[in-house]
Amino acid sequence: MTTTLAFDVYGTLLDTHGVITVLEKHIGKKAPEFSRIWREKQLEYSFRRGLMQNYENFAVCTVNALDYTSTFLKLPLSPAAKAELIGAYKVLPPFDDVIAGLTSARQAGFRMFAFSNGSAEAVESLLVSAGIRDYFLGVVSVDEVKSFKPNPGVYCHFLRRAGATGADAWLISGNPFDVIGAISAGMRAAWVKRAADAVFDPWGIEPTLTVGNLSSLAEQIKQFPAA
Ligand code: 2OP
Repeated sequence: MTTTLAFDVYGTLLDTHGVITVLEKHIGKKAPEFSRIWREKQLEYSFRRGLMQNYENFAVCTVNALDYTSTFLKLPLSPAAKAELIGAYKVLPPFDDVIAGLTSARQAGFRMFAFSNGSAEAVESLLVSAGIRDYFLGVVSVDEVKSFKPNPGVYCHFLRRAGATGADAWLISGNPFDVIGAISAGMRAAWVKRAADAVFDPWGIEPTLTVGNLSSLAEQIKQFPAA
């Protein structure tokens, strides 16, 4: 069976800290700290909504986390500044290695999907604006099952939608919680460790593969025989 790759979007294909330039315009040198807390809180809200079974679209987590961060850091933002930041979140830049990585994965004949917490509509538009939509057979969103990663149900949903099984499907993610979630749900998973000092959660569940960026991904996955 042809190997299927599920590419995580925010933090793997696209750089969520791409909003820093717009943030700097509004809040100056606290922009990197603001961006980090915003992203962490956005994910925390998605985890909590998943656990509470109180699902709202990921965009709601993003907006709520923006409000939290602004209050927490005592950096008020005007409605226009917020709108500009939310707009910037809809046109996030791809990481530098993405085009090369996706091109070699396509040449290797893998079936490629985008698989995200974001709604299908939001992800389609992000991929188009990043110039990478055509690499993917489709977009699979957790919105279709009204929960969030790392609920095992969302990885099962991916497999069903992609017509794959855990043994022949890989999650590709820069987010350790996502890698652990996919492996726990029976998939293989590659951790994209772009920062040398990034730490993987010490849960005793290791990535099937760790890559420094996407450039060598296809070559390395080819080394793994199909189960
Ligand atoms: C995504 O699902 C985990 O935010 C990340 O795109």
